[in-house]
Amino acid sequence: MFSKYKKTAAPTATPAAAPVAKVTELPKAAAAEPSKVARKAPPQAAAQVTPMDKEKKRKERMGELKLELHRVLLDNLNLAALEHATEADLRQEIQSIAAEFLEEKAIILNREDRQTLNQELYDEVTGLGPLETLLKDETVNDILVNGPQQIFVERDGKLQLTDVTFKDERHLLRIIDKIVSAVGRRVDESNPYVDARLKDGSRFNAMVPPVAVDGSLVSIRKFKKDKLGIDDLVNFGAFTEEMAAYLQAAVATRLNIIVSGGTGSGKTTTLNALSSFIDNDERILTIEDTAELQLQQTHVGRMESRPPNVEGKGEVSPRDCLKNALRMRPDRIIVGETRGEEVIDMLQAMNTGHDGSMTTIHANSARDGVSRLENMIAMAGIEMPLKAVRSQISSAVNLIVQASRLQDGSRRMTSITEITGMEGDVISMQEIFRYQRVGLTPENKIIGHFTATGVRSHYAERFRMWGYDLPAAIYEPVAAQ
Ligand SMILES: Nc1ncnc2c1ncn2[C@@H]1O[C@H](COP(=O)(O)OP(=O)(O)OP(=O)(O)O)[C@@H](O)[C@H]1O
Ligand SMILES: [Mg+2]
Repeated sequence: MFSKYKKTAAPTATPAAAPVAKVTELPKAAAAEPSKVARKAPPQAAAQVTPMDKEKKRKERMGELKLELHRVLLDNLNLAALEHATEADLRQEIQSIAAEFLEEKAIILNREDRQTLNQELYDEVTGLGPLETLLKDETVNDILVNGPQQIFVERDGKLQLTDVTFKDERHLLRIIDKIVSAVGRRVDESNPYVDARLKDGSRFNAMVPPVAVDGSLVSIRKFKKDKLGIDDLVNFGAFTEEMAAYLQAAVATRLNIIVSGGTGSGKTTTLNALSSFIDNDERILTIEDTAELQLQQTHVGRMESRPPNVEGKGEVSPRDCLKNALRMRPDRIIVGETRGEEVIDMLQAMNTGHDGSMTTIHANSARDGVSRLENMIAMAGIEMPLKAVRSQISSAVNLIVQASRLQDGSRRMTSITEITGMEGDVISMQEIFRYQRVGLTPENKIIGHFTATGVRSHYAERFRMWGYDLPAAIYEPVAAQ
């Protein structure tokens, strides 16, 4: 029946992938032996593994059917010939294979179920297979694949194990290959990891065996069309109205800002939200590894650095982009993340007339962020006395905003710190706002509140001169509730 795209050679039997029942192992309870000091149950908040609600029985049956049908499809379709098939042809072909299969097994499905099944099979063949439903799910932020049988997602800051699986490692590798070959890259034993951007803008990273020991590892940061804005972040409790007013003054009066934070802590989201305070008539140039920022202003030039191609040629580093950007008459430069030698040009840009530039770095506190900058400068091979390095940093950077993902999954701006200059050999800083943790609920939710530290901004006068006369009250500490 499915002659057109059927493989010519008889398909080799592949072992059917029995759906593996997953057992979610939680850390073992403390030893039964009584002890004087009762130990707290092992923490479950940060990496808690909560299987998603089991779907209804009908859905389960569909899942099994799909798995089996995927196998039939993969074994019978000539995947290479598919590239040239029209959508209508392909849908028709898939429908015929599915109908034949269902008839053979004497399974009757209603119209709706049949349509769903056909769509999922189509996704499998043309799209990213099992990942497709997760990519379409708006509530999912991150998708993390640990080998074919284990796919986690992040929803509301929490990691959850899903019941979605790949048939086997070969199936997973086929999907990875499909993604990376679409962007002209390759991943195999000699080139075992790759970064790419999906069609919808999502960020994609994969690492394949043998470097990935238990099967390929994939991480996807979903692209959000509607990025969280300042108001959303205030509503989510990421920071307060007072902090937002302060940040508005800081951005509008062109302070140079670094957003510091751990991985997935909300750095890019914060940077994007801060950029909304930039005036519409300024020329902004953005430089990123993977274009994620979505600036609302009219006058924006976006650049994306590029890794070398398969032959090791054609690299355009963030530093190349930055050097070029300086020749393009920017009012402000925004670098998605500073992690290497581009730090030199970034600091120079901040020091030489591109006030109001912004970037992010990986660090756990403002102090730590400054050390990161020092290290990056040293690694870039710049031989300068430490004091001179620090003086460069202190005159370039005005503000460090710390983004954190707390252990209960919530993301908060845990500190806003100003750099005020040098005292001897040391960069002097003052914290203006902080998130004060006070405890933990029995459900492991963090209890805390935002407060000013009582220190008036070093830039208060500048803010006033530019028309951002912040009331003194915003610098008053909030009493603990
Ligand atoms: N305050 C917040 N509340 C809820 N979700 C948030 C918040 N901030 C960020 N997110 C979501 O968390 C995810 C990670 O955010 P983001 O990409 O900004 O982190 P990042 O620190 O830049 O990560 P990476 O280190 O991987 O670049 C995104 O899906 C984003 O939408
Ligand atoms: Mg980021």
